Parts: sequence; C-alpha cells; structure tokens
Amino acid sequence: MKENIFVTSPLLPPLEEFIPYLEQIWQNKYLTNGGAFHQQLEKALAEYLGVEHLCLFANGTLALLTALQALRITGEVITTPYSFVATSHSLLWNGLTPVFADIDPKTCNIDPDKIEQLITPATSAILPVHCYGLPCDVERIQTIADAWGLKVIYDAAHAFGVTLDNRSVLNFGDLSILSFHATKVFNTFEGGAIICPDAKMKQRIDYLKNFGFAGETTVVAPGINAKMNEVQAAFGLVQLQHIDKALADREKIYHRYCEALRDVPGISCFSAPENVEWNHAYFPVVVEEDFTLTRDQLYDVLKEQNIYSRRYFYPLISSFSMYRHLPSAQPERLPQAQAVAQKILCLPIFPDLGEEDLDRVVSIIRQYSVGPANQLLAADITGAVA
Ligand SMILES: Cc1ncc(COP(=O)(O)O)c(C=O)c1O
Repeated sequence: MKENIFVTSPLLPPLEEFIPYLEQIWQNKYLTNGGAFHQQLEKALAEYLGVEHLCLFANGTLALLTALQALRITGEVITTPYSFVATSHSLLWNGLTPVFADIDPKTCNIDPDKIEQLITPATSAILPVHCYGLPCDVERIQTIADAWGLKVIYDAAHAFGVTLDNRSVLNFGDLSILSFHATKVFNTFEGGAIICPDAKMKQRIDYLKNFGFAGETTVVAPGINAKMNEVQAAFGLVQLQHIDKALADREKIYHRYCEALRDVPGISCFSAPENVEWNHAYFPVVVEEDFTLTRDQLYDVLKEQNIYSRRYFYPLISSFSMYRHLPSAQPERLPQAQAVAQKILCLPIFPDLGEEDLDRVVSIIRQYSVGPANQLLAADITGAVA
C-alpha cells in the first residue's frame, strides 16, 4: 500500500524551538488579550510582509467579518464565486448581499470587466480574492472603486508574502485579510490578520476584535472576540524564522512539477506574471479536453493511489443552497467560473514534499497521457478508467 500524499502538509518548525516560548507563557501566565508575543508578532509580520499596520486575528474568517464591520459596509458587495465559502459567508454574517461577478479564466480572479455592470445604488464594496496567491488586477479594480465610491477589501487568505512590482500585494485596496490556517503557507494552527494602511484604522480594528472595548469601562462598538492568543502568536514567531526556506522549497517544487508536466498534452500549469513574486501557495493545473481523463477522473485515479488532490474551487460558492437563489448566482451569468470549476485540480504542494513523492504524482498523470509524454492509446486508457 502506497503512503498517503495529501494536497498539503502543515509547516511545523522543530518542536524544541517552540518549547522555550511555551515556558515563558507558563511563567508569565499571560495567555491572551494582546500579550507580549502578540505584540512582537504584529511588528515582525508587518516588517516581513512590508506593510504599515497589521492586526492579528484568531482566524481568517473573523478577520473578514471584522474588516467588513470596520469599513461599515452596507447593502451589496461584488465578489467572486470562485473561492472558499468563507469569502461569501462573511457577507451573509454581516447581513450583506453577495453579488457574484464572473472570473477571468487566465487568473481565476474576478474579471474587472464584469464588475461595473453589477453596480447598483446599494453597492458599497468589492470583495475580490487573490486566488491561489496570484494577484488580482488591483489597478483596474481600484480605478472602478474610485469612480463609483466603493471600498475594496481583498481576501488575501492565499497571498502571504506575494509581491507585485516589488511591493506587497497586501497594500492594495482599503483593507486586506490573511489566513494563517494550518493549510496555509504561513500558519499559526488557526489564525489570521487584517492589513490596514493607518494607525487610526488599526485602533478601530483592535477595538472591534476585543468586544469593542476602548478601555476598562468603555465600549465603543459592538465588537466580537477575535483575538489571537499567546500560544498562536509565539508559534508564529518561530514559524517566521523558517518561512523564507519554506517559500524557496515551494518554488523548487513548483518548477519541478512544471518541468515534469511540460510535455503532457491537456495539462497546463499556472505561472505568475514577471512583475509578481508568487508564494506557490497551491499547484493548480488545468485539465483540458485533450487530456485523456476528465478532471474528476484524474482526481479519482490519484485518490485510488492514495494521492489526495483537491478540486479548489468546486463547487462554486454561488451553487450552494444559501446563494443559488440570487440573480447573480445563476450559472448562465457565470460561464467562465462554471467552466473553470470543472477543469482545475490542485496537486500536492508543501515545503517537505519529497522528490520521490512528487515524481509519483507526475508518473500517474503521465500514465494517462497521450502524445509525446506517453505512447499509450487513448482508447485503452478510457477503457481502464470507465
Ligand atoms: C480564500 C479564503 N478566504 C477565507 C478563508 C478563511 O480563513 P480561515 O480558515 O483562517 O478562517 C480561507 C481558508 O481557509 C480561504 O481560502
């Protein structure tokens, strides 16, 4: 029986590096509420990422919920159906209406050409996602937002460490949120952050994530409990020491995959534009019609061999029962997202994915390939998986 290979595996620094931090927490008995490690991690991450201000959160979903509150977003918000459900759920939890715009199939991000036609007097914001860590067309989105007086909140859950023209992609829009979930490039088991441009906004967000407390007896807003605790923050500080290597390892794996799949007809890889430093948070491939298997057949074949790829993002958010009644969620209005959701498979990628394991994934894909990559007959293959 072959060993399992999952789509990701969490980055875990050596345990002995973490123990002294735990000892300090035990000694200080300061477990949460903006302790020393929390403060250190906020500073260290802002510096590492190249952003002005950063507010830590217990997870990315709470960061999204709070970002919408912080900007007092109302009514309708234009967003993408091609994301993890938390993106749209954050709107429903705030009593807002998601309005889905179709995506650009080349980037899987919201298509700026589809935004303006969805704006109504009720629209107050745009909530795009830097899908797989590849940046949205931030310039065009900002131009539209400025023309119509809309706020922009980026769901940058996948975009830790990504730069655009040597500048953090997290600096675009009014606010961006990150996720530090176990599956993400940088994790604190669970965790997240809001990136904000000024100290005043940081203060407001810090109040909101702590029940709205502005002092011992003063509550200035109906806040929530979204604080990151000291164990998570300490783990983040240790994790940060290893992140450069983890990103470099991901890049190596990315190139090895691309090279190995280059001549496989019907399988295409994503690449970042030249002005983008990508974090290779995911390794999505497009399974085109000229591959011998459909995307779902390939997913099944890999699974039979204990390789657990993921169909991010299928089904589309707009197809879930709490969204599908919306006019903007109708499949015929989202043709690109519909098509892309049927074609993309995310293959395993994580810093310690060994070459042998990667080659195992690739060799299965190549077995089902025709043309220069393999001389198997399509008819035989289709028979084998039918
Ligand atoms: C695009 C996107 N947005 C939001 C989230 C929610 O983040 P969290 O799991 O930290 O709450 C995730 C992933 O988990 C995500 O992939």
